[in-house]
Amino acid sequence: MNQIVPIPKVEIIPSSAPFSEAQRSWLNGFFAGLLTTDGAVPLSPEPGAAAMQGPAGDGDDGEAPWHDQTLAIAERMKLAEGRPLRRRMMAAMAQQDCGQCGYNCSDYSDAIAGRSEARLNLCVPGGKETARMLKSLYEELDKARPAASSAAVTPAVAVTTTISEPGRSRDNPVPATFLSRRLLNKTGSEKETWHIDFDLSGCGLDYVVGDSFGIFAKNDLGLVDQIIALLGASHTADVRGKTLREVLIEDVSLSPAPDSLFELFSYLTGGAEREKARALAQGEDPDGDAATLDVMGVLQKFPKVRPHPEAFVEALEPLQPRLYSISSSHNATPGKLSLTVDCVRYVIGKRKRLGLASTFLAERINPGDEVRVYVQKAHAFALPKDSRTPIIMIGPGTGVAPFRAFLLDRKATGATGKNWLFFGHQRSDCDFFYRDELNAMKTSGLLTRLSLAWSRDGEKKFYVQDRMREVGRELWSWLAEGANVYICGDAKRMAKDVERALVDIVAQFGARSTDEAIAFVGDLKKKGRFQQDVY
Ligand SMILES: Cc1cc2nc3c(=O)[nH]c(=O)nc-3n(C[C@H](O)[C@H](O)[C@H](O)COP(=O)(O)OP(=O)(O)OC[C@H]3O[C@@H](n4cnc5c(N)ncnc54)[C@H](O)[C@@H]3O)c2cc1C
Ligand SMILES: NC(=O)c1ccc[n+]([C@@H]2O[C@H](COP(=O)([O-])OP(=O)(O)OC[C@H]3O[C@@H](n4cnc5c(N)ncnc54)[C@H](OP(=O)(O)O)[C@@H]3O)[C@@H](O)[C@H]2O)c1
Repeated sequence: MNQIVPIPKVEIIPSSAPFSEAQRSWLNGFFAGLLTTDGAVPLSPEPGAAAMQGPAGDGDDGEAPWHDQTLAIAERMKLAEGRPLRRRMMAAMAQQDCGQCGYNCSDYSDAIAGRSEARLNLCVPGGKETARMLKSLYEELDKARPAASSAAVTPAVAVTTTISEPGRSRDNPVPATFLSRRLLNKTGSEKETWHIDFDLSGCGLDYVVGDSFGIFAKNDLGLVDQIIALLGASHTADVRGKTLREVLIEDVSLSPAPDSLFELFSYLTGGAEREKARALAQGEDPDGDAATLDVMGVLQKFPKVRPHPEAFVEALEPLQPRLYSISSSHNATPGKLSLTVDCVRYVIGKRKRLGLASTFLAERINPGDEVRVYVQKAHAFALPKDSRTPIIMIGPGTGVAPFRAFLLDRKATGATGKNWLFFGHQRSDCDFFYRDELNAMKTSGLLTRLSLAWSRDGEKKFYVQDRMREVGRELWSWLAEGANVYICGDAKRMAKDVERALVDIVAQFGARSTDEAIAFVGDLKKKGRFQQDVY
């Protein structure tokens, strides 16, 4: 993991310049960003140590009642009131422990509070709400900094980057070769889900089942060229030693529009437009469209404001990688890696929007192309050490991905534990991914049980947790035998609903009160027998 200190305060805009304090501070920060490298600089130990005395040293009890991905940020912050800053920083995060930031929520917040991580915008599921809250908590951290260290105004010079092993973190990706894609849905489906294959033999990466694969995608050329046209710039304009087109394709995020872009626009215009841009920069929603404004949407909304390409690019966020659960086993197919990717496409107004990485994998790369990738080690999501342990896997939709990997791995290693998969999707005839493969696993006995739930086949929705309830007695007997339970897929609703079903099953068939059943499931979690990979 890179060790990065925040950009020191740089006074570039003189105090006599005709700006308010807030404008001056923003512009100083903006130009400081231009002057410093993106690399990592060594952390001076004092400020971090002063602000964070370490997990055991600040009187916090270590409990995290806000660590629930279904709670809204306001509720989470309330639960964290009165806690040390690093704990409130954790509460600001989306609580999915999804690994997209390169940490889990607790470690990311400790790293920020300890000043070994300066990037406040890495929590993808938390989005702008989390980034804004972290920014404001970070200002508190600044205030807590001893006066002597805050006096340092010299830009960072000694740049030393702690490079992680190649291909093992988002900070050090390696090239992998894209091999092929295959559509998993059949005619009539409302979904577009791709089985994707990569060749890792060139980069030498390996992985274990349960790990995820990080992909650095590129933006769509059509979108980039429309943005350049709206900017009124040349696509060959030089920005950071590259052409504007290259930078917009490879380096910056074009969705959603960041606060810094609105801030830049607010300084380049006046009157009502300026007020509007300023309000948007502060997270307000003057026209009710804030949630859908991407970078192109901002250029369309403010047609009279046209920043210089360099300033425009500086106001954008770096392009973030995306994670995908690996759906293959390195033990079964060494040097190969598969993903199961649901393609994100939707329409806002009249414009088609493309999910960055899913459409990149679905249509913007060709066999033989190299993609920058890394393996993200799973945070407590793995097959049991004892290969005889039974496993229950619950993965609707693309949530089946890691379980395909688990099954292939158990087959390759000759694991004797029983395997039960709950899979579900919209329609049995067109959304049954890996149908032949799963049926063959069932026939061979590898898959002891395969329980299916089709949400749109009948008149009423029927989900995996409905199927679980139907077979609750058997499910309980697997649990009583010592089975591990795994959930993968949607974090917001599915994971919670499935957990609730599990609690009900434990209560009903394990003859427990609801409170006892909740405690039982909590204990499964503590013992590592109930693991989740949700996003
Ligand atoms: C650990 C982990 C494992 C994952 N595994 C998988 C996997 O196996 N398979 C898989 O497909 N995905 C998986 N994901 C999700 C994946 O990382 C991406 O988030 C997903 O593919 C979308 O990325 P994108 O770049 O295509 O879309 P983005 O460019 O990130 O766009 C997605 C955003 O578009 C917006 N959006 C989407 N639909 C709509 C709509 N209808 N209306 C309005 N706005 C909308 C939302 O703001 C959404 O956040 C995983 C995520 C994590 C963290
Ligand atoms: N963050 C979110 O809000 C969210 C939620 C889901 C998916 N996604 C994104 O969608 C893509 C993944 O899609 P996917 O292929 O995995 O399919 P999916 O859209 O997650 O749907 C898979 C199946 O789960 C069902 N389902 C919906 N709500 C459920 C619930 N509460 N409990 C149990 N099952 C439920 C769906 O039914 P119906 O559709 O018929 O209701 C469908 O049959 C990814 O890009 C992912 O990031 C995001």
